[in-house]
Amino acid sequence: MISNTLSLLLLSTIAKSAPIADVEIPSTSDIHHEHIPSHQEKRGGTCSFPNYEGMVAVQTSGKNAGWAMHDDQECTYGSWCPYACKPGQLMGQWDPSVTTYSYPGSQNGGLYCDSEGNLQTPNSGKSYCYDGTGTFIAKNQVGEDVAFCQTVLPGNEEMLIPTLVGSGSSETLAVPDTSYWAGTASHFYINPPGVSVDDGCKWGSTAEPWGNWAPYVAGANMDDSKNTYVKIGWNPIYLEDTSPFKNTKPSFGVRITCDDPSQCVGLPCSIDPSSQGINEVNSSESSSGAGGADFCVVTAQNGAKANIEVFSV
Ligand SMILES: *[C@@H]1O[C@H](CO)[C@@H](O)[C@H](O)[C@H]1NC(C)=O
Repeated sequence: MISNTLSLLLLSTIAKSAPIADVEIPSTSDIHHEHIPSHQEKRGGTCSFPNYEGMVAVQTSGKNAGWAMHDDQECTYGSWCPYACKPGQLMGQWDPSVTTYSYPGSQNGGLYCDSEGNLQTPNSGKSYCYDGTGTFIAKNQVGEDVAFCQTVLPGNEEMLIPTLVGSGSSETLAVPDTSYWAGTASHFYINPPGVSVDDGCKWGSTAEPWGNWAPYVAGANMDDSKNTYVKIGWNPIYLEDTSPFKNTKPSFGVRITCDDPSQCVGLPCSIDPSSQGINEVNSSESSSGAGGADFCVVTAQNGAKANIEVFSV
C-alpha cells in the first residue's frame, strides 16, 4: 500500500530537470513510529525542549513538549530530537555521519540528547537555525490565514513545521541550498484557508482535508548555480481511493509567479479549481508523479525569487 506518509517525497520523484528531493523513497515500514526506542527501554529521562535562538516550539500539548516529533514521542536520552525553526529558517543540526537519505539515519535530525541528558550539537558548521535561500515567498491573497506546514527532514517527515501566512501578507518559506542535510529539498503541505497551524501542522486524519490530507503540496531547493526549483502539485493522499476528499474541489488555488518572469522557466504553473478539474495543473510542462498526482515545476534562475500565491476560487 502507498502509505499515508511522505506524499511529498513521493511527489518529487519525477522531475526530469529539477533535483527537488533528489532522494530515495523509504518504504512504508521505514516511517513507523514504533521503531523509535520506547521510553521504557531507555535509562534515565528526557531532554526538554530548549527553545534556543530561532527555534519554534510545536505540538506543545503532546508529550514531546515542543520538539518537532510525533506528539506522543519524547526526546529521550540517547536519541535525536528534531525541532522547528522560524519561518524562512532551516534546522542547522543533524547527525553529520548520515549523508544520504535512508532509514533509519534519515530520522537523525536536531540535537542529540545524550545518555546524561545533555543536548549536543554535533553538526559544528551550523547554528541551531539558519536562513534559507530566501528565494521562495508565500503570498496569501485570500481573506483568511493560510497554514503552510513543512515536513521534518531529517526527522520523521511529518508536516510539523509551521509557517502561518496571514491574510493579505507574505512569508518567506525555508528553502535549502545544497549544504542542507543530504542535499534534500524542503516540502510543504498547503492547508485550506482558515485552518490554523495548530490544526494543520500535524498529521491529521480523513476527518478533514488538513495536514497529511491537505489538497496541495509544494517543494523547493536551490542548486549550486543559484537556480531555485519550486514545485506545486496535488497531494497524492488527497486523491487516493480511500480519501473522502478525492471528488471535492478545493475552494482555493495556488500558482507560481516570478517578480522577474524573464528569469523563470516553466511558467505558467498553477492549480485553479475554478477553471480546471481535480488533479489538473495548468502548465505546458506538467507531469504526473507518485499516485498519479499532477504537479509542475518552475526554475527561478540566477538567484531570482519565485512566489507561491494562494487565491480563492
Ligand atoms: C492556464 O494559464 C494561462 C496563462 O496564465 C491562461 O491564459 C489559461 O487560461 C489557463 N488555462 C486554464 C484552463 O485555466
